[in-house]
Amino acid sequence: YPVDNHPFPVGHLSSHIRLKERLATGKFGCVYIGEDAETDQRVAVKVFPPQERGSWLVEQELYSLPEMSHPNILCFIGADQCGQGPDLRLWLVTEYHPLGSAHDYLAGHTVSWIQLLDLAESLSRGLAFLHESSSEKPAIAHRDIKSRNVLIRSDLSCCIADLGLAKKFFQGESIGDVHPQVGTRRYMSPEVLEGAMSFYKDSFLRVDVYSLGLVLWEMLTRCTDAYGAEGVPAYRLPFEAETGSSNPSLSQMQAAVVIERRRPEFPAECQSHQGLSYLRETICCCWDHVPEARLTAACVAERCKALRRLPVS
Ligand code: ADE
Repeated sequence: YPVDNHPFPVGHLSSHIRLKERLATGKFGCVYIGEDAETDQRVAVKVFPPQERGSWLVEQELYSLPEMSHPNILCFIGADQCGQGPDLRLWLVTEYHPLGSAHDYLAGHTVSWIQLLDLAESLSRGLAFLHESSSEKPAIAHRDIKSRNVLIRSDLSCCIADLGLAKKFFQGESIGDVHPQVGTRRYMSPEVLEGAMSFYKDSFLRVDVYSLGLVLWEMLTRCTDAYGAEGVPAYRLPFEAETGSSNPSLSQMQAAVVIERRRPEFPAECQSHQGLSYLRETICCCWDHVPEARLTAACVAERCKALRRLPVS
């Protein structure tokens, strides 16, 4: 079995879990609701085809690292394989969150100022945890932070999912062979879009913080306190307005983000709400053109926490 410390024998999980409806289709495979035949407990099962074995291995290896459990990281249950030859399917089983991804949740719901802080602080805490290193845990760059890869728990806290592109950095170890231009075009930082990224751990972490800024912006634009009597407008993805496209090309993204240095716009009412204007400033520090000028995820989480102490207007 590819992972030494794996608690289950091959076939253990897949023989107990029945796949139900499909939740999402991703780059490397599809995610289904799975139901344990005996307990009726629901789980999420990401099913990879055999040619995506590499991503399946990377993802389960990261989830299985010591000290990887955190309330704001998707909880890993186990990996398994079933079928043979061309029918081989590789499973990654995690906790199931019925509210779905931040993208789906925000598209269908608005949030209050306090709920916005819950979302923003928990997401930043999750990313800060990934980025942090200890004697047990390497620093991890996610490399595909976007609202579709963030799941919403029933208490409106976030957990970060999809570690298939993530990269770990052990202290003193060289970075090795990494493809710098990965992730989702819409969420790529200027240095990634330009192909001008340096290969240091901190550069990878700063790329994540840039995309964190975009997801925080998506959250902010769904907050009822950010709008006046006209109400909250329909949900839009970052750069949907700027590029006029629901699927912008690399050159459209380069033109908007690198050449014109555009960033998503904030609702005008932000100005008159102390908390929102401070959060807006924090978001702008996440997506600064200069990577070194960006905040760390831990600092973003602390700023969100401080915002809770503001009197509610
Ligand atoms: N979509 C992708 N993964 C999911 C999960 N674990 N729970 C709910 N929806 C998901």
